[in-house]
This record gives sequence, structure tokens and C-alpha cells, in this order.
Amino acid sequence: MVRQIRNSEEVLKFPNSILSSFSILNFAIRPGFRYVEPVRICVVGKGGREHALIRALRESESHPEVFCFPGSEAIHEIEGAGMVAAHDLESLIDWMTANSIDLCVAGEESYLVTEAGLANRCKDVGIPCWGPPFAAAQLEASKEFAKEFMQRHHIPTGDAAGCADIDEAQAAIAGKYPTVLKFDGLAAGKGVAVCPDKETADKFLNEVMVERRFGPGRLLVEECLVGPEISIFAAVSGSDYLILTPARDYKRIGEGDEGPNTGGMGAVASRRLVDPELMKRIDDEIVAPTVAGLEKDELDYVGFLYFGLMLTENGPKIIEYNCRFGDPECQAVMPLISGDLAKFCLEGAKGNLQSELLSFNEGWSVCCILASAGYPESSRSGDPISGLENVEDARIYHAGTKKQDGGWATNGGRVLAIVAGGDSRENAVEKAHAEASKVHFDGSQRRSDIGRLHF
Ligand code: AMP
Ligand code: GLY
Repeated sequence: MVRQIRNSEEVLKFPNSILSSFSILNFAIRPGFRYVEPVRICVVGKGGREHALIRALRESESHPEVFCFPGSEAIHEIEGAGMVAAHDLESLIDWMTANSIDLCVAGEESYLVTEAGLANRCKDVGIPCWGPPFAAAQLEASKEFAKEFMQRHHIPTGDAAGCADIDEAQAAIAGKYPTVLKFDGLAAGKGVAVCPDKETADKFLNEVMVERRFGPGRLLVEECLVGPEISIFAAVSGSDYLILTPARDYKRIGEGDEGPNTGGMGAVASRRLVDPELMKRIDDEIVAPTVAGLEKDELDYVGFLYFGLMLTENGPKIIEYNCRFGDPECQAVMPLISGDLAKFCLEGAKGNLQSELLSFNEGWSVCCILASAGYPESSRSGDPISGLENVEDARIYHAGTKKQDGGWATNGGRVLAIVAGGDSRENAVEKAHAEASKVHFDGSQRRSDIGRLHF
């Protein structure tokens, strides 16, 4: 039996503290206070998502000491996260062991899905890990594994067929367009093509199955689903789970959701994004059966689980699972969560998920991404960034920056996330865009409809 440790209706009634989570919590040592060694946490990752996670962990009431591998200059300098002297998974495990790390938090999926598996190696050396073992991380790493999992556990998703070569793919498409083609492996977000016609499908099939752009691997031909997309996040520990604040991300580079896909140009998050009835349906038909399936298949899932959903006219259906938080959804969601995320993840990693450690702000949060020139086809490094000091009423998370001439400069495709909160969607949207417009660099790209465009 799986159980959500607080059901979705109760979550919606949870006492709110609008905007309080946007200010840094003060911590005073009171008379009779007993000093307790802070928990030592190592976060794995380097982007805006990890910056947001680290800020949220550091703002936890238990005040943990936070380290980050590999991290970024901003994560180390602005956030004060300690550096980790490691260069790969094994040296990371050695460093965590030698430095008495109490908890490892997987930000990005990269080390979870490699053969040894971050969570598996942590288990070997007795370090609790907030992130799933290798076998469970296949939900993200293999589209075919995920599809078979959903079919086996009767979780609503599009029909699909796994194919070994171009002939099998053509047979599965059977001349029906639009169709969706998915490379069955990690492809840096470029392994999915929504093909309106035979020409686009043939081009993608040739790149993936003949030229082997992403290396060897199978392909999934999937039914094209239609409807608004939504990102749902659950914290999962074995048979227990807690649904966190939902979000909607904006994947395309251009205004009005036009142009090529990106890693995400922004996000809007709120418990009010999804009405209670729909959230109950998502819980009953998708989240609970997924957690039950993980339990039944003995996959020992621990950590954040991301459900990419399409709200079709036949109900919510899964388009993908990810075995970590979304980026940039994390940057929008984290400021809406307060309490003790550090302790929540530590206890969850030990099999003891405690919902009372977190509280949820009922307001809205909007994240605007500033991307560099050329993104998403390329990116440009070294453009000096100005105006960061003028941002007053928003959080700044660094995704791709570096120190240059005493200031910050671009260093990647997605450069910065500017996140603002408000008690209404409109307030959060206006504030996020006003604050984001204070930051400048040559070639900067920002969508002005983030948060405004409803589904
Ligand atoms: P993914 O890499 O699985 O996140 O897919 C990237 C994007 O492709 C998704 O965010 C959707 O917009 C789109 N997509 C994936 N699967 C489908 C589907 N079955 N039907 C329609 N669009 C899809
Ligand atoms: N926001 C999409 C992702 O994190 O995969």
C-alpha cells in the first residue's frame, strides 16, 4: 500500500505564510540552546537548479553545512557552498566518506544514471542519498523502460512501440502523422522529435538510426498527445510520497511557445496552478500508481520524482519521468517551500519521509531565464553582466556564469534565473519581469510572456 503522507486536499489547506519564504529566515541562539553539530550535505550538480536547491537547504531551520560538486563559481562564492576535491564519481564518494558527509543530494541526473550509480555507491559506503538507485533512474534514462513501466502498472500515457531500426520505425508510424519519435537514451534534451509530417520524421530517423547522432540505441514511436503540459513533483521514499508545488515550464526559445526547444526559458509555480479536483485525479491515476509500481518492482525509489504530464481531453497522461527536480521549475518552486528541507531530505533518504518538516506558500512564483546569444543552437561566453546589484525584490540564481574582471560574465546557454513571488499570479509575473529587465549583457535573450501565457 502506498500512501501520500498528506493528501492533496489537506496540502491545499496547509497554513500559508505568503512571501515569508522570500526573505532569509533569521536564526537567533536562544538561552538554553543546545549546540548540535550541523548536518553536512553534498549536492551534486552545477546549474541554476542546484543553486536554488542549495539556497533552500541552507535556509533550512536546521542550518546544515552545504558542499557542492562540481558546483560553479557562483554557487561557491555567493552561496558559500564548500568546494569538493573530486573529479569523478569514485573520487566524490571518497571525498564524502573522508569528510563525514551525512547526506548526498542529487541535483542533476548525470551520476544517478551512470553504471555504478551515485545512490548505489552512497549505499555501499553508508551515506544516505536523496536520489534513486541506478535501476530506478532508468525511468529517466530509458524511454522504453519508462513506457513498459507505465504499461505494466496501467498508468495513463500515449501508445508506443519500441523499434530497433528504421524499418521497424516506419512500420510503427504506419503513415500516421503527427507522430512523436524518441531516442531511447540520454540525448541532452535533443532526443525527442514531434513530427508533423513524413519529411520531418524521415530526417530525424536518418539522424538517429542511420547516422547514429546519439550513438547506438533503440527508438520509441509514440502517439502524439495534445493538450497543456504541466510538471508535477513528488518527494518519494519507498511507499511514502508527498506531492510538492506544481509548475509549468516554457520550453521553447520564442514568445508564444514558438521556435526550437531549450532547457527551459522560465517557469511559473503555485499550488493554485492546478485545481484540487484535477490534482486529486493526477494523484489517484498517476502519482499513487507510479509509487505503487516502484514498490512492486522493488526499485527502492528515493528522491524527487518529476512527472511531465499532458492534460489531454481524455485526462492527464505522462509524457516523461525524470529522476530529479526540473530545471527551471526548481528555481520557481523552492522559494515557495519553507521549513526544513535539509532534514526532510535526510529523513526521507533514511526511509522516514516527514511531511511536517515542510510548509507550502500558497502564493505564486515566476522564474525568468536570461539566456546568452546564440542559444539554444550555441551559446556565448564572456559577455559581461551588469545590473545584478539593482535586483531588489527577486532571487537571482546563477546557471551559466563565471567571474571576469571582478564581475560576472556569461558562461553557457542559460545564464541566470530571476525569480519573484507574489500573492497573485499577476503580481509575481510583473515583479519577475521588472526585476529581470534590470540585468543586462550583450545578446541577452528573455521571453516576455513567461508566467503570462496560460498553458
Ligand atoms: P521530453 O524530452 O520527453 O521531455 O519531450 C520534450 C517535449 O516533446 C515535451 O515537453 C513535449 O512538449 C513533447 N512531447 C513528448 N512526448 C510527446 C507526446 N507523446 N505527444 C506530444 N508531445 C510530446
Ligand atoms: N524543465 C524540464 C526538465 O527539467 O527536464
